[in-house]
Amino acid sequence: MLQGQRILLIVAGGIAAYKCLDLIRRLRERGASVRCVLTRAGEQFVTPLSLAALSEHAVHRDLFSLTEESEMGHIQLSREADLVLVAPATANILAKMAAGLGDDLASTLLLATSAPVMVAPAMNVRMWEHPATQANLATLQGRGIHRVGPAEGAMACNEFGMGRMAEVDDILAAMEAFFGGHGRLAGRRALVTSGPTHEPIDPVRYIANRSSGKQGHAIAAALRRLGADVTLIAGPTLEPDPLGVTVVRVESAADMLAACQAALPADVAVCAAAVADWRVAEPAAGKIKKTAGGKPPVLKLTENPDILATLAAKGPHRPRLVVGFAAETEQVVENAREKRSRKGCDWIVANDVSAAAGTFGGDENRVHLITADGPQATEAWPTLSKREVAERLAERIATALETAS
Ligand code: CTP
Repeated sequence: MLQGQRILLIVAGGIAAYKCLDLIRRLRERGASVRCVLTRAGEQFVTPLSLAALSEHAVHRDLFSLTEESEMGHIQLSREADLVLVAPATANILAKMAAGLGDDLASTLLLATSAPVMVAPAMNVRMWEHPATQANLATLQGRGIHRVGPAEGAMACNEFGMGRMAEVDDILAAMEAFFGGHGRLAGRRALVTSGPTHEPIDPVRYIANRSSGKQGHAIAAALRRLGADVTLIAGPTLEPDPLGVTVVRVESAADMLAACQAALPADVAVCAAAVADWRVAEPAAGKIKKTAGGKPPVLKLTENPDILATLAAKGPHRPRLVVGFAAETEQVVENAREKRSRKGCDWIVANDVSAAAGTFGGDENRVHLITADGPQATEAWPTLSKREVAERLAERIATALETAS
């Protein structure tokens, strides 16, 4: 999907700039062309020669360079890009972008371009958390600028936290998602639920569960990478919105069901959300006081609608393929098989969510895919990252839809 895309890569001054060398190589392997702009600070971390050698184009550094302007003017440079990628995007360049400053070649290009812009922020955790940086990002995102990362981890400055630049694989995945639309699922509509739900007790308290939304979000991103038109109905999670995906944020199971129904029709629905089975029958209108009645309150629960079973029920809007998840702590496969027939879905992905398995909130998953009745239709997948599980599942979904049509 990156074949033939023209990427204008702006390398700002951060230690993560070294990752750009690999990024350029990998982009070119995928058939993209890359032109590089290096800021003054960026030059402290990577040399123009390395960027030029890998991109096989002259590197642009000066706004007022006669030689550079005669080869390709800076306005033309900004026009002839399908995507402008700023990586690493330092706190400084993000601030300049938000303020609309144009005091060097990179910031001027960013002002002049009409191409879509993606940023891969990279900075120290305190700079990342600073309200100024967060406000700048909010401004930029409000203007439709795409963001990939940052990630959490150990930093070059010996601190730990958010601010590491996204890995090259993640940047490539985000770019592929951005340019999606030519993959195996192009023209197909997918609906994915993800994350937990919050069921209110009163205006400040709720019932929730430990779902992180990582697996559901990864599935939405993987389906998008194959070109599907994806709507992700997400409960409250800290996961960032996957690029190129329409995200509808909801709180409760009832909201999630309504949002799913509004997103139909779809060719495939994947219910990866950990929907609360029960909600408080009558949430209090005001905060429940500790002193009220002198006794702990008794919460009367009522059953939530089953979103998966509702989507899987026969009807004119039933997606052709409905995939559920089964979160189990014991007899994982047996319980999941029973759940598949009880809920009427086509496939079920069974996963062990016992504390020992570390699935909830973790980065890995060990699943069984059950596609029909009988032991032959149960596949045990090895332990994979949630992203790999998502990619395998998306490929399987593409194959199933191709076979069915
Ligand atoms: N699910 C749903 N709506 C609900 C409950 C569950 O859509 N109200 C979906 C989940 O998204 C998942 C599947 O049903 O795809 C199974 O969820 P799970 O929690 O494993 O099953 P439950 O139906 O809650 O059954 P139990 O708690 O008894 O295991």
